[in-house]
Amino acid sequence: MKKSQPVAILSAHEARAEHARLGEEIAAHDRRYYQDDAPTISDADYDALRRRYEALEAEFPRLATKESLTGKVGAAPAEKFAKLKHAVPMLSLGNVFSEEEVHEFVARVRRFLGLAEDAPLAFTAEPKIDGLSCSLRYEKGRLVSAATRGDGFEGEDVTANIRTIGEIPHRLKGDAPEVIEARGEVYMAHADFAALNERQALAKKPIFANPRNAAAGSLRQLDASITAGRPLRFFAYAWGEASEVPASTQMGVIKAFARFGLPVNPLTRLCASADEMLAHYRDIEAQRATLGYDIDGVVYKVDDIGLQTRLGFVSRAPRWAVAHKFPAERAMTILRGIEIQVGRTGVLTPVARLEPVTVGGVVVSNATLHNEDEIARKDVRIGDTVIVQRAGDVIPQIVEVVADKRPHGAKPYEFPHVCPRCGSAALREIDEKTGEADVARRCTGSLICPAQAVERLKHFASRNAMDIEGLGDKQIEYFYEQGLIKTASDIFTLERRDAASLTKLKNREGFGETSVRNLFKAIDERRRVPINRFIYALGVRHVGETNARRLARHFVDFEQLRAAASAAEPGGEAYAVFDAIDGLGPVVVEALHDFFAEPHNEREIDALLREVTLEPMPEIEYSSPVAGKTVVFTGALERLTRDEAKAQAERFGAKIAGSVSKKTDLVVAGPGAGSKLTKARELGIEVISEDEWFARTGQG
Ligand code: IVH
Repeated sequence: MKKSQPVAILSAHEARAEHARLGEEIAAHDRRYYQDDAPTISDADYDALRRRYEALEAEFPRLATKESLTGKVGAAPAEKFAKLKHAVPMLSLGNVFSEEEVHEFVARVRRFLGLAEDAPLAFTAEPKIDGLSCSLRYEKGRLVSAATRGDGFEGEDVTANIRTIGEIPHRLKGDAPEVIEARGEVYMAHADFAALNERQALAKKPIFANPRNAAAGSLRQLDASITAGRPLRFFAYAWGEASEVPASTQMGVIKAFARFGLPVNPLTRLCASADEMLAHYRDIEAQRATLGYDIDGVVYKVDDIGLQTRLGFVSRAPRWAVAHKFPAERAMTILRGIEIQVGRTGVLTPVARLEPVTVGGVVVSNATLHNEDEIARKDVRIGDTVIVQRAGDVIPQIVEVVADKRPHGAKPYEFPHVCPRCGSAALREIDEKTGEADVARRCTGSLICPAQAVERLKHFASRNAMDIEGLGDKQIEYFYEQGLIKTASDIFTLERRDAASLTKLKNREGFGETSVRNLFKAIDERRRVPINRFIYALGVRHVGETNARRLARHFVDFEQLRAAASAAEPGGEAYAVFDAIDGLGPVVVEALHDFFAEPHNEREIDALLREVTLEPMPEIEYSSPVAGKTVVFTGALERLTRDEAKAQAERFGAKIAGSVSKKTDLVVAGPGAGSKLTKARELGIEVISEDEWFARTGQG
């Protein structure tokens, strides 16, 4: 950005000209950010433009007319896509980066299934397409709906948009099942991307940073006629709900898809070993530059669908598939500065401000420096020439410093010991067990630090938490600055608290009555929310979505969780309540205890619960007769390994316990079962065989 003169010395004429120019520039950035999914400047640069614009208005109040952008929050379209629930969740994939990890993946699958090293086990290997995933639902062979992935459980209804894609059939050919959801990737080919950007440039419209942004921006158009003019394509590679899966193998389904007329990737191969998978990976990598569309790795999937079902999922990724990513792309640039950002839990994160550079087709001007130790280890200094790397969606990183390009007099970087936002001490916690300092330096001003407060609010309203439409990061920052929303419960009292706040908002010209009303409506829509989302939204340390689900499943009622967590002093009796929750370690329990013991949090939760009604967690899997039961497996199991038994129980909503007690509901006993079986009989607990377990959980 060119150096600008202080506003105070501008003439009214100059100020008016600059104000008009900036207004256009900001509006264009808003469109790119909110409507095209393709921002072209960093948040900091955008903020600088906004600040300058506001400074001009402060100095020259006549510029602050009705058309002014000041106070206008975002440019999100007033209308929005309808939501569509996925009958079967849309998952993501785990990543691996090395040959060794591919071997480990195969070994892990074998171990889980209890297969010997020489037992046959086939995998498919296919390109990982860099686009956006969609689920296409066909009933009686007709395309009836289509949804984006969204948060995996619920996506956006893009049926009208999908229908405009020439490659996607409106009717399936041949022997398609009654109901089948074909899942795959919508993408844009290189040549089409280049031509689209040329057209955009000629029409003075924003250009897209890369084919994936172009594909996402083109598909997510409320006006499907715009999508129709965009050259999108599709590859089918998976399925969701199906009245009947058309084959018993992954490869078989892909072939069936091709028969039905769906496009499938021609580089999909069947491999009999890790070595064959790796050979195909290298083959695909060698063709990458000439494929004509972006791929970012190779996906391996267990071929046998029966085995896929047995393997199931961990968290939100299947155990039976993995993405082998291509090595990251790199470029050289100059480190202009280091900015310290303060996160929701107070962690100080250093962000590198870089001279903008193109890495793998995307302009990068910020990169993460991880933490204090990383900066010291790499001896990164301001002014240094550095190598930046970017892999897929991950935030770009600084790999190393080019030592012989260091400018004279560059000084080692000193990491701040006070929070740059609130001035509180920033400390590194010492791990009591190891005596080592935590890698993260944290601001200790939790309740007074504005940075933490704003980040907590952003998290609370975010898509996978409370999902309040129209209350994005920018809006939260604005409301916080205005003093209208300081805590999460303030969101729900905003409308009631002020007719005044409405007037206040309306008076900030540009923030129209309709957008205020839309926001109030969106807030009201989230006054009923599933309990797991609420738990996650609270932002307790170490409680991500998976742990929130575990807690919701176990406690069902929020007050039960609250009481248990408040009582769970480390080492105390109440602590044991959490032992029965699979996958929940002591660190999480301690974090929960600390959170609920804090009086300020208690008050805030009370305030929230006056505004919000919690609903039961939606079932992701179908409801099963063992859901909510505590199950003990004992004796030798013949069809299941221990890991598999545990995973199955979790999938069907049951809890696994290691020993039999009055709380046990069901014992699954195999040959050789001893004392646990005896105890179960004594206590009159139902005992079933492994086969009966399969029958009861509907697995035949
Ligand atoms: S399979 C249950 N196959 O990668 C497994 N995903 O990083 C579902 N993707 O969300 C995914 N190419 O959007 C699969 N050949 C491929 C893929 C692929 C691209 C995307 C997909 C997924 C993401 C995970």
